[in-house]
Amino acid sequence: MILAIETSCDDTCAAVVTAAGEIRSNAIASQGLLHERYGGVVPEIASRRHLELADALVADALEQAGATLEDIDRVAVTRGPGLIGALLVGLSAAKAIAAARRLPLVPVDHLHGHVVASTLQPDPIEPPYVCLVASGGHTFVARVDEPSTYAILGQTLDDAAGEAFDKGARILGLGYPGGPIVDRLARDGDASALDFPRSLPGDGLDFSFSGLKTSLLYRVRDLGEQEAAERRADLAASYQSAIADALLARLEQAVAREGVERVALGGGVAANSALRAGAEALCERIGARLWTPPIALCTDNAAMIAAAARFGEPVAYPGYLDLDAAARLA
Ligand code: KG4
Ligand code: ZN
Repeated sequence: MILAIETSCDDTCAAVVTAAGEIRSNAIASQGLLHERYGGVVPEIASRRHLELADALVADALEQAGATLEDIDRVAVTRGPGLIGALLVGLSAAKAIAAARRLPLVPVDHLHGHVVASTLQPDPIEPPYVCLVASGGHTFVARVDEPSTYAILGQTLDDAAGEAFDKGARILGLGYPGGPIVDRLARDGDASALDFPRSLPGDGLDFSFSGLKTSLLYRVRDLGEQEAAERRADLAASYQSAIADALLARLEQAVAREGVERVALGGGVAANSALRAGAEALCERIGARLWTPPIALCTDNAAMIAAAARFGEPVAYPGYLDLDAAARLA
């Protein structure tokens, strides 16, 4: 059994997963409300909160799994990318737990976790597949031929899709994090009410979302405060559909180019209802099979870190004691 810890951003997460990919527990403590008043994640506050919660989350994950540390064979932890202080808390906790029992430690690339979230039970995807990962910090489409690694086919040149949701929500005067709020508000709006650009830069599979955000800003300015407030649901629905359309357009091109029949979504934005519905329609139209993980496996979680650790290189004790966290991975 694998005990995994994830603290790359503002969620403190621990999970217990078997080598076969069965999730025994997936504990998450979200710090969302703590950062809401600042309109975004404050790194120092996130680190301190992780420090307070890490032990409790590990205890929760073990208890929910009906396990003790005696049952754990390896420890997995997110090494990066993410907020350096936040990462260090999880990494230190994982090192301490592993070292005390002389267990091997598997350092995990957070993005690899998002890519392989769909390889968990009960319906694991098998390579080859194409995966669209859209989160608050990253947006890319990747090909997976074997689950220990992934090849990036295209990525965002500026903002991530989740960032576009969060910044858009701020322009519309909504709360933080913006994605879920825009998603909810969009249900009462008309996605074709307002025109927003679908930017598809270059000839490859890259994304760009910064122009879309600017066009929302101008649109709100042109409408004026009162009309923009009255049409908030239409603005949210139209803006959301521009993001989803751009993501789906690249996903469709990637699947056609790579000639695969299996498709997965990952990352916090994969929780978006317009993207999920659009991906389902797309896959049905092109005859591909789609894996959309449950929302708890799309947003940050430790089960996906354990999933990736099944395919990673374990480091034996004491080799990992001087392992460092990395805000960016090469
Ligand atoms: O993967 P994640 O939990 O953390 C990162 O690794 O960044 O992604 C967080 C992002 C945030 O930008 C949040 O607004 C977005 O995912 N998000 C959503 C939804 N739920 C979360 N975006 C659109 N619709 C949602 N339902
Ligand atoms: Zn993430």
